[in-house]
Amino acid sequence: MRTIIAAAAVVLVLVAQGATGVAQTGAPAAGGGAAAPDIENGRKVFAFGNTSCSNCHGNGAIGGFGPDLAGHGIPLARAAQAIRRPIWRMPAFDNTQVTDKEIADMVAYWNSLPQTEKLGNWRTPFPKDPEEGQLLAVQYGCTQCHGNTLDTPRHGQGEVDGDFAWFKHQVYEHSKAQPEQWAMLDRENAPSSTPGPGRVRMGNFDTKRLPEETLKKIYDWAVLDLGKLVPISARVAVAPGTGGTTYTVDVANGAVPNKGLTAEDVTISMIVPAGMKVVSNTGNGYQGVKKQGNNDVASWKVAKFVPRQREKFSVTLSGAATTANEVPRGTIAWAKPTAKEDAEVNFSAPRPGGRGGAPAGD
Ligand code: HEC
Ligand code: HEC
Repeated sequence: MRTIIAAAAVVLVLVAQGATGVAQTGAPAAGGGAAAPDIENGRKVFAFGNTSCSNCHGNGAIGGFGPDLAGHGIPLARAAQAIRRPIWRMPAFDNTQVTDKEIADMVAYWNSLPQTEKLGNWRTPFPKDPEEGQLLAVQYGCTQCHGNTLDTPRHGQGEVDGDFAWFKHQVYEHSKAQPEQWAMLDRENAPSSTPGPGRVRMGNFDTKRLPEETLKKIYDWAVLDLGKLVPISARVAVAPGTGGTTYTVDVANGAVPNKGLTAEDVTISMIVPAGMKVVSNTGNGYQGVKKQGNNDVASWKVAKFVPRQREKFSVTLSGAATTANEVPRGTIAWAKPTAKEDAEVNFSAPRPGGRGGAPAGD
């Protein structure tokens, strides 16, 4: 549920260059004329860059799934080669994703750091008893960025109901394929679960390092076995009023019309915080409030949510949430298509006085 998706992103790229010796702080790039590397920019590109390098190499380049890069005096040419044409499990980042200048800045940043004494942990811990497809996704680094159930790739799949040809294109030619898909989405009108548009953050995997038969096993496990995910998202708006506080859940299916998935038999459920009552409601298919365990739950049932469908469902509650624990929260679930993981979308109202309203899901 976490994953890269939470952060908004941006990005770019570079090219291998024969120069060496640009590693020291402030040293001019070999060959003359090139700007001196900027350590502070290197730190930013590495930490917040759109490339997610730190997902594998750790915050502060102390290592994780990938090796530690801090304080090894890695020469620029070797780094550029590793980034443009990786050795094995790391995807290749092209210069639309990270520029030559940004590589030089990152190298200067790593080389300005002391060596790591204690290697960092993996960002996504090793899953329990992985079956073959999941184990391969772990070994090729997919789970470091996508979590152990690959929810982002499965949402992207649902946007266009992509088959294995789609999956291959996304993995092997990602820096081209992702902008093609973004161009089909209506981001203004349907808050989508995937990031962008901006710079593409995932690199391109090579068929020599990640053979098609191996990728097929990852696809069979993630998409066919765990299941397709309809890209449903929700946002909650709060409006205080004289008769109570109105909480409106804005639900959208971000899939591409005539291509993407439809959710069928959809239930939207919202927990009514203790001590509050539903004064009024809006939205199709309101089912009233029922006890579920210890909670009072208001719900709506909708026959289907087709691509680009967007509907609002609201309740006006007596009283108002005054602490973060009290804000109404809930889930959206559907009967078809089924999924073994990440099958429900969670939402929660903004915290009093805070930001929020974004989906709790990825
Ligand atoms: C999926 C995890 C992953 C991501 C993301 C990743 N790397 Fe790597 N990186 C690795 C692994 C693993 C290696 C070791 C070689 C291999 O298996 O490909 C490596 C090797 C390297 C090396 C070579 C180190 C040396 O000593 O020669 C450099 C430099 C490097 N990565 C930089 C980056 C940068 C910069 C980014 C972001 C643009 C990045 N990596 C993103 C996993 C990753
Ligand atoms: C460096 C982090 C990273 C790694 C490693 C990574 N991905 Fe991604 N992937 C992303 C991000 C971020 C996106 C969303 C688009 C973007 O910015 O690139 C994405 C998008 C995708 C998509 C397209 C989803 C869509 O919305 O259309 C697929 C499919 C995918 N990844 C599969 C994989 C597989 C399979 C692996 C392992 C072989 C993998 N990814 C490894 C970060 C990563």
